Amino acid sequence: MDKAEILAALRAPEGEALFAQARAVRAETKGDGVFFRGLIELSSVCDRDCLYCGMRRSNAAAHRYAMRDDEVVACARLARELGFGTVVLQAGECPALWTRRRVAELVRRVRGETGQHVTLSLGERTEADTAAWREAGAARYLLRFETTDRALFARIHPGAPVGGEHPRLAQLRRMKAQGYAIGGGMMLGLPGQTLESVADDLLTLRELNADMVGLGPYLAHPGTPLGRDKTPSGVPVDVDFTCRCYALARLLLPHANIPSTTALSTLDPANGRLRGLSSGANVFMPNLTPAAYRADYQIYPGKICVVAPQADAIDALRADLATLGLRQVTG
Ligand code: 5AD
Repeated sequence: MDKAEILAALRAPEGEALFAQARAVRAETKGDGVFFRGLIELSSVCDRDCLYCGMRRSNAAAHRYAMRDDEVVACARLARELGFGTVVLQAGECPALWTRRRVAELVRRVRGETGQHVTLSLGERTEADTAAWREAGAARYLLRFETTDRALFARIHPGAPVGGEHPRLAQLRRMKAQGYAIGGGMMLGLPGQTLESVADDLLTLRELNADMVGLGPYLAHPGTPLGRDKTPSGVPVDVDFTCRCYALARLLLPHANIPSTTALSTLDPANGRLRGLSSGANVFMPNLTPAAYRADYQIYPGKICVVAPQADAIDALRADLATLGLRQVTG
C-alpha cells in the first residue's frame, strides 16, 4: 500500500469493504483470539506541558496522585485472576517519581509475584533507563509519536526540538534495538492536522515495524490551550475515521497488536469498543486502576471506564466478543 492508496481509503465514501479486508487479515494472523491487557495508571503527576493533555503541568485544576508499589502489584494480581496475561504500567512523565531504580524493582516484583508480562508507558526516557527496565524483565514499551508532522508536533509539545529527528521516533528506534516490542501511534483530529499527515503516520508505523499500534481520536479538554483552540482539523474526530485507521494499520502491519482504545469508547460508549474490533483491532485494555484514583487520570474529559475491574464486567465483555465470533485469549 502506498500513500495514494491510503489516502483513497481514508476518503472513500464507505468504510465497510476496508473493514472486511482488515477482519480477514486479522483472522489469518490472529485467529479468533483477543488479548486483554490490564491498564494501571500509576500517577497523574507530569513534568510536561503538552497543549492537549488535561494532566499537563500547568493545569492547576488537576488533582495529582501516585500509587504505591504494593497497590500496583495488587492490581497486577487482579489482572492474573481475570486471565489477562499482561499489565500496562502507564504514568504521567515524571522521572523523579518513577526513577530508573524504582521502575526496575517494580517490574521485577510484578513479574515475580504475578507472572504477568509488563508493558511500560512512561513517556520520553533515557536509553539507560529503558535498558535497565528491559534487563528487569519489561519486554514492551508504548510511546505514541502523536503526529509525524514536525511543525504540529513542535507546536503542541513545548520544549520539543523543531528540527532534527522526531524525539519519540528516535526513542522507539532505540528501544527496538534494545530488544523491546514497541508500540507507536497518533491522535486523530488535532487542530491543524491534515489527512496527508495521517497517511504519513500510518506509513511511519510500518517503517518502524511497530509491534503494537495505539491510536485514537483527539478529545478536546477545556482546561488546556489546545482544547480552547478553534483551529479546524483536516481530520474528522469520529468512530468511522478511527476505525479506518485501525483497518489500515492492520493491512500495513498484519501481525501487530492493535487495541480498540478507551478514547474510541468515549466517543461511542455503546458500540465503540466492538466497532474497533470489527475493523481489525485485536486487543482490549480494561482499566484496572483503583477506583479511588481513576477519576484523576484525566487526559481528556469524560474518559469512560471501559469495564469495571469486576469479574462479571469482564464476563460481559467476553459475551460481547462472542457476538463477533471472537474469544479472549491469555498472553
Ligand atoms: N485526547 C485524546 N487522547 C489524548 N492523549 C492525551 N491527551 C489526549 C486528548 N486530549 C493520548 C496521547 C497520549 C496518550 C497516553 O493519551 O496520545 O500518548
